[in-house]
Amino acid sequence: MGEMMVEVHTARHIADRTWRFLVQRNLVDPPDRLPARPLFYVLPRRERVILAFDPLALKSVDRLLSPRTLHHLSTALGGRRVVTMNSRGVFFQIAYWPTPSAPLSSQPLDLAQQPSPLHVPIGVTKKGPLWLSLPEMDSVLIGGSRRMGKTRLLHGWVQALLHGGEAMLILWDGKGGVEFGRYADRPGVVVDPSDGREGLERVFAEMSRRADLFQQGGVPSLPEYVRRTGDRLPPLVLILDEVAFLPEEAQEVLTDLVAKGGAFGVYPVLATQRPDAQAVKGLVRANLSTRIAFPVPSVHDSMVILGRPGAEKLPKRKGRLLLIWEGRLVEAQAFRVSLPDAGAVRPEAATLLTGRERRLVEAAVRLGGWFRIRQVAEVTGESRDWVNKVARRWEAMGYLTPVQVNERGHRLGRRVTEGLLQAAGFGGQANLADEAD
Ligand SMILES: Nc1ncnc2c1ncn2[C@@H]1O[C@H](COP(=O)(O)OP(=O)(O)OP(=O)(O)O)[C@@H](O)[C@H]1O
Ligand SMILES: [Mg+2]
Repeated sequence: MGEMMVEVHTARHIADRTWRFLVQRNLVDPPDRLPARPLFYVLPRRERVILAFDPLALKSVDRLLSPRTLHHLSTALGGRRVVTMNSRGVFFQIAYWPTPSAPLSSQPLDLAQQPSPLHVPIGVTKKGPLWLSLPEMDSVLIGGSRRMGKTRLLHGWVQALLHGGEAMLILWDGKGGVEFGRYADRPGVVVDPSDGREGLERVFAEMSRRADLFQQGGVPSLPEYVRRTGDRLPPLVLILDEVAFLPEEAQEVLTDLVAKGGAFGVYPVLATQRPDAQAVKGLVRANLSTRIAFPVPSVHDSMVILGRPGAEKLPKRKGRLLLIWEGRLVEAQAFRVSLPDAGAVRPEAATLLTGRERRLVEAAVRLGGWFRIRQVAEVTGESRDWVNKVARRWEAMGYLTPVQVNERGHRLGRRVTEGLLQAAGFGGQANLADEAD
C-alpha cells in the first residue's frame, strides 16, 4: 500500500516534469493556448507510468518522438528510461526509477564459448555474455575515443574467426600491419600492409568473381548458390581498423563493398575514432547496419557513430560499449583479449636500430604509421634536420615508403613499412601501443 502511494507520487512528479519539458522545448503550445482537455492522461502502472497523449495537442509527433528529444527528456527526468509507442495513439512509458548503468563485470575472452564459427565476441551484458554472428550483423561500424578498446575488440573478433576456421580474413590496420601482422602466418588470413587499397581491391575482385558465378548459375544469393552447387564459398571478413587513414581513392571501392558485400558473403567491419564525414563517407556509413560505440566525449560523437545519443554517457572505462543491433541499444563490457606474439619476429632484429632511432619509429606508429618529419621531430624532441636525414636513409633502405602524395598534390609523408617495424624490434608489435598507457 505504502509502495503504491510512492508510485502515484512519483508518477505525478514525472508527469509534471515532462509537461514542463515539453512546453520549454516548444513541443506543445504554451499553457494559455492549450485546449481545455489535458495534454496527456497519466496512467500509473507497476514499475512505470504511462502518459497517453492527445495527438491534437502536439505540434510535431516526429519531433516529440525523435531520439534526441527522448534522450533530453530522459536526462531531465534524472536518467529515467523513456520508451515510446506510436500505434493507435502516442504513448510514453517512463520508469519510476532511473536505470543505473549496469554494473558489468569484465571477463576474459573464452573462445570455447563461441556458438558458431562465424560468431564474434561482444562482451558481458546485463543478461550475460553476448556473441553475435557476422551474417546477422552484416556490416559493422565501430567508433569511440582513443584507447577505449576498438582495436582490442577487433583482435577478439579475429581470434574468434580463426578459431571458427570458416571465414577468410582480410585485415588492414592503418598502421602498416602493426596490429594485425601477428596473424599474417595463419591460414585464411591476408594482412594488407599497403595503404589499404590492395586489400580492398582483392576483396572487390573476389566479389566480382562471385557475382559472375551467381550470374552463370542463375542464383540470386550466396546461400542459394551454396544450396544448389554444394560449393561452399567461404565468408570473407574485411576488417579495416583506423579507416580514417584510408586514402581518398580507396573510398569508392569501399562504398561498393559495403553496399553490395552482404549478397556475396563479404562482411566489412570498419573502426575509427570518429567516423565523421571525412573518415567515413555518408554513403558508407548509411550502409553499415550494426553500430558499436565505445565511450565518446559528446552527444554529437554518439550521434555520428550510433545515430542516437548514449555513448557520451557510458562510464569512461576501457572496453565499455553500446551496440545498436536490430534497433535495440545494448550495453556491454567487452571481453578482455590477450594478444598472441607475432610469429615473424626475429630476436636479433632489435639491435638493427639504435634506441634513439627506435623512438622515431615508435612516434611514427603513434602517428598512425606516418613518418612525417615535422610531427616526428616534435613528438620526439629531435631536430628536424636529423629526423630528415634518417628518413632519407630509411627510404633508400626500403624502411619507409617514398613520400606519398594525394590527388590534389598534397604531400602526405612517408609510411612506415613492416621491415622497419621488424628492424625496430616491433615486429612482435608486442603491445607497442600498450606501453603508452
Ligand atoms: N575490454 C577491455 N578490457 C580491459 N582492457 C582493455 C579492453 N580493451 C582495451 N583495453 C586496454 O586498453 C588499451 C587500448 O585499447 P585499444 O588499442 O583497443 O584502443 P583503441 O580504441 O583501438 O585506441 P586507438 O584509438 O588509439 O587505436 C589496450 O591496450 C588494453 O590494454
Ligand atoms: Mg586502435
